[in-house]
Amino acid sequence: MMDREQVKAHWRDWASKFGTALGATTRTGTAKMLEIDALARRMSAIGLGDTPAHVLEVGCGNGLNCFGLAAKFPRMQLDGIDYTAEMIDAAHKAAVANGFQDRSRFLVGNALELSAASGLLAQYDVVFTVRCLINIESVGLQMRAITDLAARVREGGHLIMIENSMATYDRQNRCRTLLDLPARTPAAFNLFFDETRILPHLKTLGLEVEIEDFISLHDLMLYVLVPAINGGTVDYDHPLVHAATLLNIAVSAETSNAFGAFGQGRMFVCRKP
Ligand SMILES: C[S@@+](CC[C@H](N)C(=O)[O-])C[C@H]1O[C@@H](n2cnc3c(N)ncnc32)[C@H](O)[C@@H]1O
Repeated sequence: MMDREQVKAHWRDWASKFGTALGATTRTGTAKMLEIDALARRMSAIGLGDTPAHVLEVGCGNGLNCFGLAAKFPRMQLDGIDYTAEMIDAAHKAAVANGFQDRSRFLVGNALELSAASGLLAQYDVVFTVRCLINIESVGLQMRAITDLAARVREGGHLIMIENSMATYDRQNRCRTLLDLPARTPAAFNLFFDETRILPHLKTLGLEVEIEDFISLHDLMLYVLVPAINGGTVDYDHPLVHAATLLNIAVSAETSNAFGAFGQGRMFVCRKP
């Protein structure tokens, strides 16, 4: 994996290149739809539907998750922090363009130094991350960040992490091998969750944990099935990837975890008793 400064430089580079566009934080627009759907569905299920809930995203990038949630929850107050100043600048611009500046705040801050980030509330109803903690270069530091994030959650509130997991990534790669495709490797700026260490840590923090696999059908289509019929290419715009996204979202509204545990991302829902 890259070292800390290289990872930071990577995000500054993408933020400068892509600004308020989706490309600043992902190559996969369909995955972004599924991430926002999973967060919103869960926030409705825990009763935040029509409340003035306070929600914090750590590693918010240019703010796409916050804006997606603000659009679905008209009374939600959203704070986002990110250590890349260029991402926060883009989030400010997009907040104004989307008309969400009254309900959203974006601040520069590091997940590993949350106490130094001025302007955050002491406690939130929900603290969440999406593909942020996997940028931290060791499991020990990932666990330290999780401890600090959990401390910002009120009693009865939730820490929700959508992060990539080695466990399900390996299962997805196993599917590729079964169809004679080579295994993929994570990007150099990522250290996927090692659940054998992260899950016990969540327990020691006293959190009640539930894992939702919200993206398995999409990922099997994008990373296994479509490559299997087109010479190995991952085609983000293939019509079957779009169809799988719509089906994955529609079925998730009725049945969670319906398509097994084969996504590279999983949603770790942690309730603070
Ligand atoms: C893959 S992007 C995801 C952005 C956003 N969560 C989303 O889903 O659109 C990862 C983001 O995490 C930020 N990041 C990485 N490590 C961080 C840290 N230690 N503290 C704060 N932000 C961090 C990066 O600057 C980048 O904007």
